[in-house]
Amino acid sequence: MDRHAVADFGGVPGADALAAVHSASRLRGDLHMPGDKSISHRALMFALLADGESRIEGAGDGADVRSTAGIGRALGALVQREAGNDGTVTYRVHARGVAGFMQTPGTLDCGNSGTSLRLFAGILAGSAVTAILDGDASLRGRPMNRIIEPLRAMGSGIRAAGDDGRPPVTIEGRASLEPIDWATPVPSAQVKSAILLAGLCASGTTRVHESVATRDHTERMLRARGVKVRTSPEGDGGVLIEIEGGTAVRAMDQVVPGDPSAAAFWLVAGTIHPDADLILRGVGTNPTRRGIIDLLVRMGARIDERPLPDPPDATDVSLQPDTGEPRADLHVQSADLRAIEVSPAEVASAIDEIPILCLAATQATGRTTIRGAGELRNKESDRLAGVAAGLTALGAKIRVDGDDIVVDGPARLLGAASDSLDDHRLAMTFAIAGLIATGPTTVGRPASASVSYPGFFADLERIRA
Ligand code: S3P
Repeated sequence: MDRHAVADFGGVPGADALAAVHSASRLRGDLHMPGDKSISHRALMFALLADGESRIEGAGDGADVRSTAGIGRALGALVQREAGNDGTVTYRVHARGVAGFMQTPGTLDCGNSGTSLRLFAGILAGSAVTAILDGDASLRGRPMNRIIEPLRAMGSGIRAAGDDGRPPVTIEGRASLEPIDWATPVPSAQVKSAILLAGLCASGTTRVHESVATRDHTERMLRARGVKVRTSPEGDGGVLIEIEGGTAVRAMDQVVPGDPSAAAFWLVAGTIHPDADLILRGVGTNPTRRGIIDLLVRMGARIDERPLPDPPDATDVSLQPDTGEPRADLHVQSADLRAIEVSPAEVASAIDEIPILCLAATQATGRTTIRGAGELRNKESDRLAGVAAGLTALGAKIRVDGDDIVVDGPARLLGAASDSLDDHRLAMTFAIAGLIATGPTTVGRPASASVSYPGFFADLERIRA
């Protein structure tokens, strides 16, 4: 391996730039992870649903969360963003609930964010306003029938202007919605959440059946805000979620844990690099999100987890286990990996981490098979095609077989050009590959990283020892 680390840039590169990442001789560092994107979106949205003031500390500051904050302002709430000296962001939201939403003249811009579009669709379904939710070219290519069908069944006026249920999506809110009993066709926390949020305005109990459990932040956070949400196991690994309509959402303060999806890049870098020792602070370890930690440990990774107490200043957060969000400091060191089989249920618990898991698999001995990963075609890009093309260009042996991904390792990665397809998770995956590849790796359209992790490239330079 070329041991001469050369930093070509230190900050967020421009939109059309290519990022050149050189191999690193050693990786050392102590990093604070950005605020969890999924929790930041929800904390902002639930603050809009409440009557009063909510303070959200340690929020993610990526473009996606800013889209949600912007929509909150467009709907008439006071949403103040305060940036701290340490790169953290605090939001103060003053809102008057759904009843206080203002009719907006323009479209509500979700940018690149599927979470903003799908969850706001559920929220707006039970409001008194008519709104158009739209986004960038990537979001306009993503399927929305999965939320349009249930929300229409609840009585909301919702339609897509694009082909085959693609955005823009127009929602004519209704003062009262019908509760439904809905089995989600694909495991999706966004779809589940859209239905549950519409269920807040339904006259009775709304039920969502998931065949595979997805991230449960909506359920935990609504419970913490006084809403009756019940969860019970169903079938083989499935779950039934029930929500009572008509209960008010309480305003509350929340400290957002570090994003495990951001930590995943450093967990893999710290594992596959031969001389690495990294500490990642305050990472969320919610059981429905920690799949990548458990999968890497099963492959042989050395990850030491030190659970943290609940934040002392989150006095309004109920400390009951079903409402809190567990956090831990993670310590990762270089390790040899072995191949594993990953089941569809495990894919759901690591849905955003599959690209970086594929990179780990290129360094594992044997054949790793990741089963039931077809949903990756519907993300910010077609991540199945994108990760296979990008890692193949670097010399990996990876192929897509139907909905499965098959990786043969270990492979020696060579510096090459890999295109992120303007997808943040692919950009960060290929940049991490560059840390162990021989010769420079160029990442096309690297600025996409700022959708979820604006400080990613600065952290990448920081950990070169
Ligand atoms: C998210 C759910 C997942 C995930 C996305 C965030 C959420 O999407 O990929 O990054 O915050 O609910 P799907 O619901 O489409 O699986």
